[in-house]
Amino acid sequence: MADSREALKEEVRGRINIVDVISEYVALKRAGKSHKGLCPFHSEKTPSFTVSEDFQSWHCFGCGEHGDVFSFLMKIENLTFVEAMERLAKRAGVELQRFEGGEFSRKDQLAKINALAAAYFCEMLKRVSVAGDYLRDRGLADETIQQFRLGYAAPAWDGLSRHLTERRINLSDAAQAGLVIKNDRGGYYDRFRHRIIFPILDIQARIIGFGGRALGDEQPKYLNSPETPLFSKTRSLYALNFARKAISEIGHAIVVEGYTDAIAAHQAGFVNCVATLGTALTLDHIGVISRYASKVVLAYDSDSAGMAAALKGAAMFEEAESDVRIARLPSGDDPDSMLHSGRVSEFGSAIQNALPITDYKLRMLIEGADLSSAAGKAAMLKQAVRVLADVHTAVEREKYINFLAKYHPNFESGTTGAEGHIRRDVDAAVRQKSGATGRRAATGGAAPRLGSAVEKAERAVLRVLIRGEDGAGMIVQSLSAEDFTGELSRAASSAAFEMFQRKQGIYLPDLLEALDEKTGGFVSEIAMLETAAPVNETVLQDYISLIKNQRLRKARTSSVFAPYMTEGAIDPETLRREGSAKEYEEFLRKSGRKPGEQA
Ligand code: CTP
Ligand code: MN
Repeated sequence: MADSREALKEEVRGRINIVDVISEYVALKRAGKSHKGLCPFHSEKTPSFTVSEDFQSWHCFGCGEHGDVFSFLMKIENLTFVEAMERLAKRAGVELQRFEGGEFSRKDQLAKINALAAAYFCEMLKRVSVAGDYLRDRGLADETIQQFRLGYAAPAWDGLSRHLTERRINLSDAAQAGLVIKNDRGGYYDRFRHRIIFPILDIQARIIGFGGRALGDEQPKYLNSPETPLFSKTRSLYALNFARKAISEIGHAIVVEGYTDAIAAHQAGFVNCVATLGTALTLDHIGVISRYASKVVLAYDSDSAGMAAALKGAAMFEEAESDVRIARLPSGDDPDSMLHSGRVSEFGSAIQNALPITDYKLRMLIEGADLSSAAGKAAMLKQAVRVLADVHTAVEREKYINFLAKYHPNFESGTTGAEGHIRRDVDAAVRQKSGATGRRAATGGAAPRLGSAVEKAERAVLRVLIRGEDGAGMIVQSLSAEDFTGELSRAASSAAFEMFQRKQGIYLPDLLEALDEKTGGFVSEIAMLETAAPVNETVLQDYISLIKNQRLRKARTSSVFAPYMTEGAIDPETLRREGSAKEYEEFLRKSGRKPGEQA
């Protein structure tokens, strides 16, 4: 089975072009023998994501993620291996019979149960007028209700359970999908009762989970699906399936906090809007969004929790090098309340005029300050100075200093005086900050690495071997895995030697599969780096001898002569056998021994 699976993978890989597949997600440009683009798995501004047709592999030199066409599709679409295989085999025109009866996609099974449940909830919504009335009261049009497949769960404990059982669904499977919950007596009851249901779809339009809102004041207001094999709150974004095209076309995403905010936004034409699902923004969310656009506007509730969450999320986007802005909504509003009350253009300008983090913070300070007194202004400026110390460039700081000048007590007697004072305070705060980080760097900085020449040689030799370049055969003949001193290079060479013997060559995707994550990353990086200098035969010979010598050197530590040896010298026995006569004589002279004398 493992063999046929491997063969099947190889066949599929051989029939499709990895560059074509990845190009559907990442804009790739040819660079030498590879293609390069912005990594879809972390945020970056300069491309370090590399795809090699020759090696049927991809590697990001920024974040270290790597793999073949299967792992790419699995990662980017959140698929199981079987799902990725199904898609790629179809594309390659390879029959999958061999595969059937093997593994069956668990996630697809759960998604099917979710789809049955969603259809049931939709049906209930049509039947129960309070539910429909509730949604219409909230300003949702019938088309919107249909588009988002909104539904209703009745108050009964077993409405859905019965429905699924009638359709021969195992309730233990439904429990794994998060739809029903096991009780003490071994039976099951419905998780969602008397709630409006918001199905959550992934980008393949599979239903991965549900949100359920209480119709009245019952607690909790929202009840969501638990984490399941299919659903992770910290990764999913509501409405992304509808928004992703618009996000890449418009060039920015709008992120809101609530289901109803996202739905109202879409209904009002802001179709590039997605919502988090009751969790703070995570790096996963940010990674997903930046796949579609490098700009984002956060339109969070304008209560203190919402504003704090927006600032926190914005800082994460900024860290990930996205252009992030925060929309300022009128106090007490959220996007849904604005749009529901017909203030569509006002919401539009809030998005349009959204502020970068620093502007947003200064704006909040100014609005919270008592500007009628000199003391109030001074207190505000003191906090503003701290905000400005976080701004990276002096040019930008200058812009804000200029803006703040009018709040300085000296302003009346001329802007320059006021700016000068603020600038001095800001400069001091910047110095204090960089002093602190500078000290950290000094103590935490890595010492120059010893043995780096050997490390370099090991990498260079491995590269020739893994890429199957001229000289690979010579390496296999002259070295063994034990000759490699680095932990990673030893593990890598061991697997590579083994594969070379078995297959008379190296096939990178399979080699990577045989390695653990860390060694795989190391190998993938070595293989895919296009800028490494080519190694001719003489240089390769030198590298090989250096690696062999290193092993000789290491023998000294286990020698009885060790106390007499200087650092880096070679064990005398080994010296006599394999090393240089000169060094052996040197040893005898220093230790006062005669040739052959034992300690
Ligand atoms: N949320 C949650 N659990 C809760 C409350 C909120 O998961 N008990 C999540 C939901 O995803 C919700 C989002 O947090 O959509 C925002 O919460 P909130 O602003 O309270 O909800 P609104 O979307 O404004 O809800 P509504 O307009 O229905 O009152
Ligand atoms: Mn809200």
